[in-house]
Amino acid sequence: MTVDYLRISVTDRCNLRCVYCNPLGDSGFIAPREILRYEEIHRLVRLFADRGIRKVRLTGGEPLVRKDIAHLTARLSSIAAIEDLAMTTNGVLLEKAAPDLKAAGLDRVNISIDSVEKESYKQITGLDLLDEAVKGIDKAIAVGLKPVKINAVILRGINENQIIPLAGLARRLDVMVRFIEYFPTDRNTRPGSEYIPNSHIRKTIENRFGPLMSLVPGKSAGPALYFKLAQSEGAIGFISGRSSMFCASCNRLRLTSDGRVRPCLYSAHSYDMKKLLRSGADDTRILETIDRIIGQKRNFTKTNSFTEEFSMRNIGG
Ligand code: GTP
Ligand code: 5AD
Ligand code: SF4
Repeated sequence: MTVDYLRISVTDRCNLRCVYCNPLGDSGFIAPREILRYEEIHRLVRLFADRGIRKVRLTGGEPLVRKDIAHLTARLSSIAAIEDLAMTTNGVLLEKAAPDLKAAGLDRVNISIDSVEKESYKQITGLDLLDEAVKGIDKAIAVGLKPVKINAVILRGINENQIIPLAGLARRLDVMVRFIEYFPTDRNTRPGSEYIPNSHIRKTIENRFGPLMSLVPGKSAGPALYFKLAQSEGAIGFISGRSSMFCASCNRLRLTSDGRVRPCLYSAHSYDMKKLLRSGADDTRILETIDRIIGQKRNFTKTNSFTEEFSMRNIGG
């Protein structure tokens, strides 16, 4: 598998407190001086692009709470080798930000929404901001940050009743609604027993709306499987990280907000790029490290360097 996708967490801060993401007992944020600066991120992306990275995603925390994120977007979009520049956001600040992001060269957004019902949205995210997130979706479609994907994590007993309303969004809107299996980490606030396999979610959708028709994945599509619903504008996707083992086809690296590269979400070992950058390393030295990371990634299996002791907020999902 070609390693061509870099996910960058630009901040561990967030304007929501989603129950499955907010690290248990970890109330503090990383000190600002430990967070990679924009020029550092830009330099790393330029060098990663030299080694085959073609797709970049900005995540968080919530990337839109980082000051002047459109400026970073513009810098990254000017790197010719990057063919796909995307963002994963909770959408709350997107209505205002979308036009500037589009103008800065962002190609598309994935928006996390686990409920379309006000009370349960608040129960999951801690804040009553569903209307803002929905306006964010509308604006993203309006300015052409497409394809717009909606990410939803369904938890047993919490938002199971949202499977049908969320799938219904794909009938009405030109969006791909993706169901992501909950992955408990050791730093989570929800018990693993709330995990629901995507097979159950698919069955629930088919019982209501009829059979799902398989779609052919696009280039760099990743492990999501996509389906078309009859009489619908959009599509349904499933990311089944727990129930199916897709590591062999994984094409991504993750850069944390404090400058560490993880060859896998579950890697016990990470590479401290910030230390390298701030110790004055030249491009050749950084490229050597990137080569090592990509080499390790190719040989990675879940068993030879595995941890669940990590915070989603810092890695960015
Ligand atoms: P697209 O490029 O639009 O397909 O986006 P994406 O799925 O790569 O990014 P997004 O930020 O929307 O990811 C959604 C969630 O699915 C994140 O929590 C990811 O960590 C999870 N996910 C997607 N692909 C993988 C994968 O290969 N491995 C693991 N462990 N999780 C994944
Ligand atoms: N399990 C599954 N998905 C998660 N996300 C955050 N934490 C978890 C978790 N524990 C998702 C968010 C967002 C994406 C980047 O990761 O909902 O859509
Ligand atoms: Fe924030 Fe995203 Fe975590 Fe929710 S999942 S708390 S929106 S970083």
